[in-house]
Amino acid sequence: MTAPDIAVERLGADYFADPYSVHARLQAQRPVTPVILPGGPGAWLITGYAEARAALADPRLSKHMPGWHPEPDSIFAALDLHMLNSDPPDHERLRKLVNKAFTARRVERLRPRITAITAGLLEDMPAHSGRGQGVQGEVDLLASFAFPLPITVICELLGIPVGDRDDFRTWSATIVSNAAAPEVFQAHATEMARYFTALLAAKRREPADDLLSALVAARDEEDSLSENELVSMTFLLLVAGHETTVNLIASGVLALLLNPAEMARLRAEPELINGAVEELLRFVSPVNHTTFRCAAEPVEIGGVRISRGDPVLIALSGANRDPVRFGDPGRLDLGRDSAGHLAFGHGIHYCLGAPLARLEAEIAISALLSRFGSISLAVPAASLRWRPSTLIHGLESLPVRLAP
Ligand code: HEM
Repeated sequence: MTAPDIAVERLGADYFADPYSVHARLQAQRPVTPVILPGGPGAWLITGYAEARAALADPRLSKHMPGWHPEPDSIFAALDLHMLNSDPPDHERLRKLVNKAFTARRVERLRPRITAITAGLLEDMPAHSGRGQGVQGEVDLLASFAFPLPITVICELLGIPVGDRDDFRTWSATIVSNAAAPEVFQAHATEMARYFTALLAAKRREPADDLLSALVAARDEEDSLSENELVSMTFLLLVAGHETTVNLIASGVLALLLNPAEMARLRAEPELINGAVEELLRFVSPVNHTTFRCAAEPVEIGGVRISRGDPVLIALSGANRDPVRFGDPGRLDLGRDSAGHLAFGHGIHYCLGAPLARLEAEIAISALLSRFGSISLAVPAASLRWRPSTLIHGLESLPVRLAP
């Protein structure tokens, strides 16, 4: 990457906990800045809303990253060939195979099941069951609620045994981390690829009424995708299907706890929930920055020339708090019009799972607030720990006290 006339920003570990203030500072200086990620490679980081939106729709910013892809016959190739790593026409072919299963209408049919899973998880909470610390049960809301809900839903949809979820949690946390040692990354990626390969072989032997069986049939009967694309699709749907929504729910609840007037407003007016979820998406931005893109030819964005071959990241959480687009952006306001936020990205890679994520968050947050009249942080907010990932902005845990 070349930026002869612009100082490169070296992002530190503080970026994990608070990307927002880093983005605000960069935005004020220059909305397109060369950065070096903590422990990682360099890239152009786009933090302005207008520049981010333009970049996300620009076909010159490709998902083909010369020199970044694994050898075609390595085990990692089985995790690499998915739609989020593809340009047209492969992207369109792969997305079409699963698009129907994720439309708002199809996803709405899952409402009763998501409601039932949510109710079951709330049933098991200490404050309700009398376990934990007396009446005022203390619980890690992330481990016992925000994580199991989306992972259970996506496992059921795909046809993956939900009992293996703790393994996925470990593997995928490593894969989205900036801090994993290379040998740990290799080991976990290998285990994940082997797991999916075995799972798909089992679906082939014994097809069921689930999305993975349908994809195996698309591979075997219609030759619509290769074997590596099939494994990669499974990997992407599972990782994207839970790594993100868990943080919308957990960080969304944290944002409400830290803004008690907004929490009270939502309790008083539960019909605000859909707008509230949009504002929480804007405010929290669970995907902090996009996956990498690469300039397939020289591109000028925000007055800055990006050379051919340079890697580019779009800071969605920066764009979502750009004061030019959203007034007083650091204020959580459940009544504001948050339409146009970029939490789900934009352009051809716009999140496939957006309707599912919205529905899960709507059900989860509404049910949590109506079940527990009192929710409070069990530790000082400053002591909460954030995951060492620049891609995903998410808590390690969310200890809360719950009372009916
Ligand atoms: C709050 C929850 C979620 C957020 C914030 C989110 C965010 C995003 C973002 C920002 C992208 C684009 C990344 C890029 O351009 O580099 C994306 C893509 C994607 N997301 Fe989500 N996501 C969420 C939930 C889900 C769920 C539940 C699924 C279910 C399977 C899902 C599946 C996908 C897929 C398959 C893509 C790739 C789309 C493509 O390349 O065409 N996401 N998501």
